[in-house]
Amino acid sequence: MKLTYLGHSAFEIVTKEHKILIDPFLVKCPNYNPDGVTDIFVTHAHGDHLGSAIEIAQKTGARITGIFELANYCAKFGVRTNGIGLGAWQDYGDFKFIAVPAFHSSSFSDGTYGGCPCGFVFEVAGHSFYHAGDTSLNSEMKVIGELYEPDAAMLPIGGTYTMDIEAAVQASEWLGVTAVIPMHYDTFDAIKVDISDFERQIREKGKMPVIMKIGVTGEI
Ligand code: NI
Ligand code: MN
Repeated sequence: MKLTYLGHSAFEIVTKEHKILIDPFLVKCPNYNPDGVTDIFVTHAHGDHLGSAIEIAQKTGARITGIFELANYCAKFGVRTNGIGLGAWQDYGDFKFIAVPAFHSSSFSDGTYGGCPCGFVFEVAGHSFYHAGDTSLNSEMKVIGELYEPDAAMLPIGGTYTMDIEAAVQASEWLGVTAVIPMHYDTFDAIKVDISDFERQIREKGKMPVIMKIGVTGEI
């Protein structure tokens, strides 16, 4: 699979049969070409995660997957959706996923309730990884580590609205991951970090910090 960081909490994953976006808020990647996107996963309804999901789904026919209330809201815009709940694996062919709890809030910019916020664990081509969405550090991460054994985690590190660097380092231990991809930092002043601090602390735990450059694709 190919993994591209699109800034903030947005990623593109290309499998054999799918082109997947997670939380497509693309202010850091304004020239992103969404042609061929088949699936969009949205962790919660806040604008910096919903991003351009509805517009991209309208343009490409991509299916939006998210918590029931979030999916229902999107469906009003005439897009394909799959409204899900926490805790059940779903199989999309060459990948599967499960929604897991996130400790945060979820409402649309017009105030509509977005259901509970979530993260996702994906299994793609023999890899298992966890995208935490927006969340505080929480003990569910121990459960995610024990049950789903992710190899890698995309964790928010910016603080203010989510975990900060110290909490993300603790999360990486509870999750038992070997690689940590930081996200949700430096987009705004309120979530500015010293990324070298993250790098050092993750290395001190014997884990691999994977600091992805925006728009650059890696093969996993
Ligand atoms: Ni949020
Ligand atoms: Mn956010």
